[in-house]
Amino acid sequence: MRKPFVAGNWKMNRTVEQATLLVADMLPGLQTVSSVDRVLCPPFTSLMVVSGMLAGTEIGLGAQNMYWEEQGAYTGEVSPLMIKEFCQYVILGHSERRKYYGETDEGVNWKLKAAFAHNLIPIVCIGETLEENEDGRTADVVQRQVLKGLEGINKTNAEAMVVAYEPVWAIGTGRSASPEAANEIIGSIVRKNLAAIFGEDIAAKIRILYGGSVKSSNAKNFFVQSEIDGALVGGASLKAAEFVKISEAAVDN
Ligand code: PGA
Repeated sequence: MRKPFVAGNWKMNRTVEQATLLVADMLPGLQTVSSVDRVLCPPFTSLMVVSGMLAGTEIGLGAQNMYWEEQGAYTGEVSPLMIKEFCQYVILGHSERRKYYGETDEGVNWKLKAAFAHNLIPIVCIGETLEENEDGRTADVVQRQVLKGLEGINKTNAEAMVVAYEPVWAIGTGRSASPEAANEIIGSIVRKNLAAIFGEDIAAKIRILYGGSVKSSNAKNFFVQSEIDGALVGGASLKAAEFVKISEAAVDN
């Protein structure tokens, strides 16, 4: 059995003061959902204050990105050493990073290796664009992202990582994928390719999330799917009650 996993990707939203209020608002509700792994991913600037608020709880903290070098002349970047002062998780390869900042599968792979080298658990994002979807290239794109992005990762590390399948056309659009279609892609493309690299046993243990316009009203429909182990939530993770309800929906499916 894979433990359900729900992560909130706040993206570029909330100042430190706003982050403090949001976390205070959701913390009591979130703490009751202990059968689900819950992770908050605020912007870098709020990691320190949120890590203080989460201390002593079982709620994890993640960064939204990271560079692969430990230190040096890389203006504007944040390293694994800096992330791990506060976080247990890091989101890598989000489609917005691929789209706006030119991230490639190769770059994601380097970051992934750096995350494992520093005992950070990566939440690796994959997913096809609308154009790729309409051209019937979903399987090819997702397979490439898995094979190239995860190249050279050992089995022990692979077992610990979390994969998020997020069709790009469903992110922030209010237009989620159908739960059945997402389940099919996750089972027959994502997990199948994980099995080809790491073997069936390891692939069966890796948590795979769905992401893209998840909200409290549709979350359960995704969580009841056999291959979907949770969600990476964007917009709805900025509303305390919504995020708590989504986490609750991940219990007992
Ligand atoms: P959304 O974003 O829930 O706002 O669609 C999901 C994501 O980008 O991780």
